[in-house]
Amino acid sequence: MADTSTTAQTKNSRRILVTNALPYANGPIHIGHLLGYIQADIWVRFQRLYGNECHFVCADDAHGTPIMLKAQQLGMTPEAMIEEMNVAHQRDFADFAVSFDNYYSTHSPENRELANLIYTRLRDSGYIHTRVIEQLYDPEKEMFLPDRFVKGTCPDCGAEDQYGDNCDVCGATYSPTDLKNPRSAVSGAVPELRESEHYFFDLPAFGDMLKAWTRSGSLQPEMANKLNEWFEQGLQQWDISRDKPYFGFEIPDAPGKYFYVWLDAPIGYMSSFKNYCEQRDDLNFDDFWRVDSDAEVYHFIGKDIIYFHSLFWPAMLKGANFRQPTSVWAHGFITVNGTKMSKSKGTFIMARTYLDHLDPEYLRYYFAAKLSSRIDDLDLNLTDFAQRVNADLVGKVVNIASRCAGFISKKFAGQLSPRIDDEAMLRDFQAAADDIASAYENREFAKAMRDIMKLADCANEYIADKEPWQLAKDESKANEVHDVCSMGIHLFRLLMIYLTPVVPALSNDAQAFLNDKFTWDSVQQTLTSHNINKFKALMQRVPTEKIEAMLEASKENNSAAATPAAVAQAKVNIEPIAAEIEFDDFAKVDLRVARIENAEHVEGADKLLKLTLDIGDQKRQVFAGIKAAYQPEQLIGQLTVMVANLKPRKMRFGMSEGMVLAAGPGGSEIYILNPQDGAQPGQRVM
Ligand code: 2FM
Ligand code: ZN
Repeated sequence: MADTSTTAQTKNSRRILVTNALPYANGPIHIGHLLGYIQADIWVRFQRLYGNECHFVCADDAHGTPIMLKAQQLGMTPEAMIEEMNVAHQRDFADFAVSFDNYYSTHSPENRELANLIYTRLRDSGYIHTRVIEQLYDPEKEMFLPDRFVKGTCPDCGAEDQYGDNCDVCGATYSPTDLKNPRSAVSGAVPELRESEHYFFDLPAFGDMLKAWTRSGSLQPEMANKLNEWFEQGLQQWDISRDKPYFGFEIPDAPGKYFYVWLDAPIGYMSSFKNYCEQRDDLNFDDFWRVDSDAEVYHFIGKDIIYFHSLFWPAMLKGANFRQPTSVWAHGFITVNGTKMSKSKGTFIMARTYLDHLDPEYLRYYFAAKLSSRIDDLDLNLTDFAQRVNADLVGKVVNIASRCAGFISKKFAGQLSPRIDDEAMLRDFQAAADDIASAYENREFAKAMRDIMKLADCANEYIADKEPWQLAKDESKANEVHDVCSMGIHLFRLLMIYLTPVVPALSNDAQAFLNDKFTWDSVQQTLTSHNINKFKALMQRVPTEKIEAMLEASKENNSAAATPAAVAQAKVNIEPIAAEIEFDDFAKVDLRVARIENAEHVEGADKLLKLTLDIGDQKRQVFAGIKAAYQPEQLIGQLTVMVANLKPRKMRFGMSEGMVLAAGPGGSEIYILNPQDGAQPGQRVM
């Protein structure tokens, strides 16, 4: 196993740039995202506290087909949508105390300029080739379809409604052209195969360089192994262009061709930093990115995007004459209560929903207590979460201060003793600094938390042994009370210095209480005869009823999930008015009053109810996507309106012979149209 450890010994000498994977600008931040941001933030905060120069930048990943289509769906321009999302993302990160120095967007002038520069350098050095490829095309939407936007029947097992790249039912992977009965997921049209010229980046030309980079020793062993597997399989040419319509940057010498989102996304790391340098006189972009830079650059990412960051990205940088990252650090995914995050269980928790219920520092601590430098998945077990936070932060750490502070303020006018009660113990606490620093440096946060909590146990034993509350009953023992309680405060202070990267708000409150300003070096000082402030409760136990409320609010279609972000989303969730039609077109639609004779669940269908509709002289069977909104028995006997002359459609569960009219934002808020009583089944509606 390669030795990936580094010591955090040389102080104030390192210049570090840290980035975190850029979130897509088409959805809110959820707790799955937060694991990576919190991990990187703890590392960054440690570096700063330790005295290193450490910059932390990020941005929204704003380009690509899904973003273009989502904006269309919302009836917004992509520019307006990504702008709104950027504000929401920044608010979520700030509220989780993720301390970015700059948060930008890949849809920025700096990013366009750098993407063009990198591309032209690659092209001029002969690393870009063109080739005509065949791809599925949506003739209605007039666009080429990414694999995920083609749906059809699995060629292996025959399951319907599967994506163009793999089958959810049998797990087969294939190309979208292999699907039976392919349909465009955008318009429903039957896609056609069309040719188009694409631009490719010559990744294989960088094989030797990538192997050398992999062996540089700074990668996680699991990542180096993965890379070796890919080298054995052989590197492939990488398709970096997409045809219009596309939301992104047009390739400079190729009208109608755009950079694939994954080309300009990592360049977003550089452009956010460039934008940051423009705001600071003392920072120079080239110092960090030129080939011979002695600054360190680290990318924190999720395990799903290792390929992009450990192959394409270093190769692009090399080919364009920039330095390579010092390292790329991947983390695993999170599960909640042992399983994949699930909307129906309420465990797909949005950052904002969490913040509406719980203190962000609880989650920061819990993640820290479970994070190592490995790429393992992390389970957020909510019972364990509450117990861990209550036992460690509240029960062990904050408790020390609350047991000692009252005596200092009441009996000694807020002044700590001039003496140290247990010198040896204080030295032990101070001596732990190096191991804890190394654990932070090497991203072994769980080990750092274990070390800190062991010290906290010692501090609590010390106080329990000395029983200052007993001593306080005896006037002659005032000095002892002063010394013991001051010692307790010194120990609490050291624990809080060590915990500062993880729980910055708690640390700030502790600094205000202690009338102190923490750096890593403050560990070596002792606040003898120092005045402290009145103690206020620093942290509450995790309110378990709030965890329940958070899960409830996270359940799909729960109206309590109307967080500000969701409300904003709902507000804009109005589809644009479709192209104008002639009256004759409208007159072709035969709308009829229908009585819902029967309504029942459909086995295996998540969203559908099967309705039997009576339209006077005929009965119709219709599958309607209203399961989240109605129980079947609520519907039986009701009147509604249906499109009676819609061509019958074969669905997975049977023929659907028409459509019922409904309105609402979606999910549980869908209301079928109810004509007034007195309307008769079969009557035409105009
Ligand atoms: O996978 C994702 O969520 C991407 N938006 C990450 C991009 S990271 C970087 F390369 F920009
Ligand atoms: Zn299948």
